[in-house]
Amino acid sequence: MQNAAQIEFWNSDTARNWVTHDALMEAMLSPLGEAVLNALEPAQGLRALDVGCGCGHPTLSLATRVGAAGSVMGVDVSQPMLAVAQALAESHHAEAAPITFLQADAQTHAFETESFDLVFSRFGVMFFEDPLAAFRNMHAAMTPTGRMAFCCWQPRAVNPFMMMPAKAALELLPPPPELPPRAPGPFAFEEPEYVERILQDAGFSEITISALSHPLVFGQGLTVEDIVERLVQIGPIAQMVREAPNDLKQPVRDRVIDAVRPFCTSADGMTVEGAFWQVTASA
Ligand SMILES: C[S@@+](CC[C@H](N)C(=O)[O-])C[C@H]1O[C@@H](n2cnc3c(N)ncnc32)[C@H](O)[C@@H]1O
Repeated sequence: MQNAAQIEFWNSDTARNWVTHDALMEAMLSPLGEAVLNALEPAQGLRALDVGCGCGHPTLSLATRVGAAGSVMGVDVSQPMLAVAQALAESHHAEAAPITFLQADAQTHAFETESFDLVFSRFGVMFFEDPLAAFRNMHAAMTPTGRMAFCCWQPRAVNPFMMMPAKAALELLPPPPELPPRAPGPFAFEEPEYVERILQDAGFSEITISALSHPLVFGQGLTVEDIVERLVQIGPIAQMVREAPNDLKQPVRDRVIDAVRPFCTSADGMTVEGAFWQVTASA
């Protein structure tokens, strides 16, 4: 099966932890998603697809923007995240577009041809084994005048949210197995030329890739110890700490606490700059 490892991951305990801390993740990512939605300019009455919609917050925002005359589908492989999305949508306001959530692989699902005017994704398109096949599939689902906008991360080295805790943990732990470049994962689309080529080959035109950055605010109101505990559950060091020997788990936490403390305040939690690509294209 295509994307089997990612499908397993997004239905694992890590995905369940993500659901538990959905409010924290949403507070951090919401401004970035809203910026990309602004770039997409979803007009009233359009039919939109949110790819890798997760817990559905941007899907709801998209539904508000296209209004009751439009429609929105959120597609994702993660059952626990879609359960949250479904519950959110049930309490959504009546002037918004109707929303359908679909548990499916966006790379392979047979969407109805030319059935979407807009394709959007907030950090949900970097997990495909075959990104060209995935974008061809999305392209086929779009109308000839359709437009797409998504965001994906710039390299780990310019994203301290991922880099800083991992660097601190690596003072005590061996590095996790190195993934080949462009392997499915948060940094698969770190090279803009690679993303551009995939989109061109998939049939997209008018491709723009803009380097944007925005403060990532994580854990408002939490102590630095609690912030690190959340990072251990859902962040870039989750796997490393899970697999660490028991006698190193607390010392690793202590190192990470020391590393992130300068970026934490009691009111705002941890604030670091997040660097991402905003990608727009026409079908
Ligand atoms: C980093 S999360 C982003 C979730 C959401 N867009 C957000 O911003 O909160 C990536 C999402 O992509 C989904 N995903 C990964 N591979 C997928 C695939 N092949 N088809 C559809 N969704 C996928 C995951 O299940 C996960 O919900």
